[in-house]
Amino acid sequence: MAARKAGPATSTPKKAVPTKTKKAKKAASTKPKKTVPSATKAKKAVPTKPKKTVPSATKPKRGRVEAEQVAPVKAESKRTTSTRISNIRAAANHLVLGIDIGGSGIKGAPVDLHEGRLANDRIRIDTPQPSTPEACGVVVNDIVRHFSTMTAANGPVGCTYPGVVWDGITHTAANMDQGWLERDADAFFEEACKRPFTVINDAQAAVLAEIRHGAARGAEGLVLMLTFGTGIGSGLAYRGVAVPGIEFGHLRMEGNDAERFAAASARDRENLSFKKWTERVNAYLARVEAMIWPEVIVLGGGVVNDAQRWVPYLKTRTPVVVAELGNDAGIVGAAIAATTQPNRKR
Ligand code: BGC
Repeated sequence: MAARKAGPATSTPKKAVPTKTKKAKKAASTKPKKTVPSATKAKKAVPTKPKKTVPSATKPKRGRVEAEQVAPVKAESKRTTSTRISNIRAAANHLVLGIDIGGSGIKGAPVDLHEGRLANDRIRIDTPQPSTPEACGVVVNDIVRHFSTMTAANGPVGCTYPGVVWDGITHTAANMDQGWLERDADAFFEEACKRPFTVINDAQAAVLAEIRHGAARGAEGLVLMLTFGTGIGSGLAYRGVAVPGIEFGHLRMEGNDAERFAAASARDRENLSFKKWTERVNAYLARVEAMIWPEVIVLGGGVVNDAQRWVPYLKTRTPVVVAELGNDAGIVGAAIAATTQPNRKR
């Protein structure tokens, strides 16, 4: 068939604390009602009387309360006010940070969940080599910090990973450092970035984005998304639910994983023309179609930027559409996952 192209979190202010003169400390211990102990009261206190409180964006750690209490009053108030403003703005615009970890690049941007679009230009940083969890954690933390004023200060972050992920645990690492095997990625990033994290497979995230906001919007049956990049990602969705653990990139072809033969990286590595490479993609899609009868196949990955150079050569039984969100589908899907895909282990 001819291919057709389709077209709050809130911060947790610590208990407001009066300025730390001896007098005030005494008052706080003897007359606790004059302090502002609840988060609600603290919030009210900040815009009207900022100098009377010393709030902080994070909960004080035990034993560190004294140190935090002696922070300069003006600076703390200013920071908290801007934190609150960014929280309000983020909630009002439904902004959630999405991060897409790939074999060659790590990209991130705040996502407008209502529109299903990036709310800001994304940033991209080369995936560190070796791509250990620790090295990737530094990059992910940089991205979180880069967008800290555009998303809720303690808001959830969605993050993709290019391998099998179940409930935040990364089980495979075909194109990543082996240190990711059996890693609790949710917990790891939470510790590194001090934000709640939801890590899901990159193609699962991409199909989630495309069924909600992209080329497969409104598709009621089985939707298969295939992403062509460093590897071949496969995401499957049915009636709005994207399922984990679909790994069609690892079908055996030519004595190897199909992604070695037909991923976009194979075209680069072997310097193939788009036409030659598409012959491989056709052979691969024939194998896939022997196993599964989706209603539509959505094509994704960076190579869709050149869709007109290869999509017209595709020969498939199934209607094919190009990802509307292009290479941003992973980022958008990650942000969606952060608010909709519960980790059953928590
Ligand atoms: C991984 C998949 C991933 C794909 C694209 C494959 O090597 O096994 O889980 O979706 O690459 O990144």
